[in-house]
Amino acid sequence: MTRTLWLEQDDRLLTLDQTLLPFERRVIELASAADCARAIATMQVRGAPLIGAVGAFGLAFALRVDHSDAALADACALLLATRPTAVNLRWALDRVAERARAAEPGARAKVSWDEAVAICEADVACNASIGAHGASLLAALVRPDRALNILTHCNAGAVATVEHGTALSIVYALAARGVNVHVWVDETRPRNQGAGLTAWELSQRGVAHTVIVDNAGGQLMREGLVDAVVVGCDRVAANGDVANKVGTYLKALAAWDNDVPFYVACPVSTIDRWARSGDAITIERRDPREVTHVTGRGPDGVVTEVQVVPDGTVALNPAFDVTPSRLVTALITEHGRVEAAVGGIRRVLLAAGSV
Ligand code: MRU
Repeated sequence: MTRTLWLEQDDRLLTLDQTLLPFERRVIELASAADCARAIATMQVRGAPLIGAVGAFGLAFALRVDHSDAALADACALLLATRPTAVNLRWALDRVAERARAAEPGARAKVSWDEAVAICEADVACNASIGAHGASLLAALVRPDRALNILTHCNAGAVATVEHGTALSIVYALAARGVNVHVWVDETRPRNQGAGLTAWELSQRGVAHTVIVDNAGGQLMREGLVDAVVVGCDRVAANGDVANKVGTYLKALAAWDNDVPFYVACPVSTIDRWARSGDAITIERRDPREVTHVTGRGPDGVVTEVQVVPDGTVALNPAFDVTPSRLVTALITEHGRVEAAVGGIRRVLLAAGSV
């Protein structure tokens, strides 16, 4: 099974508990709206497209129990309250809710379930297309004398989506075309999605990679060791500003200063046409404990959390940041290369039939 979210016997919704990766691969079942909300809030599932897909199923589960308008509104509120930054969650809930409202009450459960399945299938297709478009774009940077070096931040891979990933879909497509590709993997403190998830995914697929601390990218760019930065994102504003995992902005600044192209891979469902700029995007603030403590495997093989600051230290934990559109070379969507600016965003929304 290559999917991160899948159905068994057409009815059992299964996924991986990502809080346990890379040390344990445990499959969990999500069987209710509350299960889906909990899985998103605790980051058993994470990554913008995957959050959207799980949210869609959460709504479908709720409508099996009670198909009233009130139950629909309550379930939407429960699921939306889980995480605020990735717009794919709101997008998926709106899409399922719209289909459900248009249906006879007795058909709502089935219609919403079918819509959640359709969202998953569309995610897989979009990501495959992002991979193909991105690989064609980045192939121009290949040099005969060395590997194509791509730096990525956080995890925008298969486990952040239903399948393929967004930024990593491009890497996988390049590798499938026979390109000698190497990935610089930012560890991505505080939760280490790069060190834990991206490195795990790349090693599973046999893609060469090296984990670096979050602050190393700038120096590697100065040394000419990065051909392109490719990241995913959680929300694109109407002017092309991009919200992604905290630390992305600093990579974009370093890329700009070193003439390294900075690409953002995302499906059109990650564009929020109602957010005029990045200033309108809510940046999630998470538990400071994620900063003051780290989790890892000890020499005894046991996964433990350890404190890394003096007792009583105050910490702040903004989970995302905004990269201004002027620093973004282009977005890479399922419709191809898109200029990160009002005109480009408007055109791709039109092409996707989203306006
Ligand atoms: O906090 P997370 O792990 O959900 O953050 C994920 C990211 O920032 C990803 O880069 C983004 O969602 C793109 S996923 C294809």
